[in-house]
Amino acid sequence: MTVLNLRERYDAATHGLEAPLAVVDLAALRANAAGLVRRAAGKPIRVASKSVRCRGVLEEVLAMDGFAGIMAFTLPEALWLAREGVSDDILVAYPTTDSTALSALAADPAAARAITLMVDSPTHLDLIEDAAGDRQIRVCIDIDASYRPFGGRVRIGALRSPLYTPAQVSEFAEHILKRSALNLVGLMAYESQIAGVGDLPPGRPARARAIRTMQRRSRIELARRRAAIVRAVRDLTDLEFVNGGGTGSVESTAAERSVTEVAAGSGLYHPHLFDQYSGFTGRPAALFALPVVRRPRPGVVTCLGGGYLASGPADHIRLPQPYLPSGLSYDPDEGAGEVQTPLLGRAADLLDIGDRVWFRHTKAGEMCERFAVLHLIEGERFVRTVPTYRGEGHTFV
Ligand SMILES: Cc1ncc(COP(=O)(O)O)c(C=O)c1O
Repeated sequence: MTVLNLRERYDAATHGLEAPLAVVDLAALRANAAGLVRRAAGKPIRVASKSVRCRGVLEEVLAMDGFAGIMAFTLPEALWLAREGVSDDILVAYPTTDSTALSALAADPAAARAITLMVDSPTHLDLIEDAAGDRQIRVCIDIDASYRPFGGRVRIGALRSPLYTPAQVSEFAEHILKRSALNLVGLMAYESQIAGVGDLPPGRPARARAIRTMQRRSRIELARRRAAIVRAVRDLTDLEFVNGGGTGSVESTAAERSVTEVAAGSGLYHPHLFDQYSGFTGRPAALFALPVVRRPRPGVVTCLGGGYLASGPADHIRLPQPYLPSGLSYDPDEGAGEVQTPLLGRAADLLDIGDRVWFRHTKAGEMCERFAVLHLIEGERFVRTVPTYRGEGHTFV
């Protein structure tokens, strides 16, 4: 299929809808989901909701074989998803200090059966215990999956849990097991330096080689350490799950015997940051369209909106990618603007006022914070419109 056909399909599927607008291409979403399931090789995939941020899409994915449970990002979100019946197995992947939400969890038996909280500090345990009352609250220990070469003098990976060694984790597990209000059900170790770092940074071959070497060594180190940690904690108590990985590491994380499930979300929408991985490919499944509202001069069109920058270290990769028609680029002085975005290139001369430019966001779920609805399309067919989290009035972070 040529690039022009793709653009014509998107335009046809959204004909009559006003831009700015966002779409999810269900055929691409399903193909991406199937790719993740293949890579997980039989282990269930817990859907990372931060990378989806739309109840309708979460339900589509959870209905597919190979997906089970949600990895949520806040407790209020998890309570909402549980009460809406989206899932009865929700792991909140980040610690909470929200005592109102903790009290709501303790007061709701069905939610308390469905939701598991993340802990890595005695202070988290105190907060949960204070709210729990007579209710037992399910908890999961977050493990630092970072890579620490050169005798620990270098540290690569997200700054999350302080618990790194088997001894530290089992000591903390013993601490949890002494508290009757807490039920230790799982372990999680997210290797961001593998799952979240693409090994094909454009135009940087030396960096690509360094990333690949680091990731190979980190995989070996983590597989050993994770297995030792799981053994140590399983000697103390039964565990329902051991979660690991993300879109960028599904196959290697799933291959570890000690891991019972993997997490993934971004690979469903396949935003442009995920073009930088050599191990897998995906189809752009989430896009947004901006209308051309001006033609300042030949070779330039100006679109309405567009400044939807992604989180992370502030660099040019955080800008959405002008996708279709191909060959458009930002004005270096303006970038993607708060209310208007000029785009340069010969393709600009093919566009009239009122035409659309299609963009890909850098990351997955963040696009949904800019749009109240997603139009689900299939080929050139409009299927239905579903609200995003934002469209349902929820901004959880
Ligand atoms: C704990 C955890 N697991 C998994 C993921 C991977 O999510 P994704 O597949 O969207 O990259 C993340 C992303 O930040 C995470 O924080």
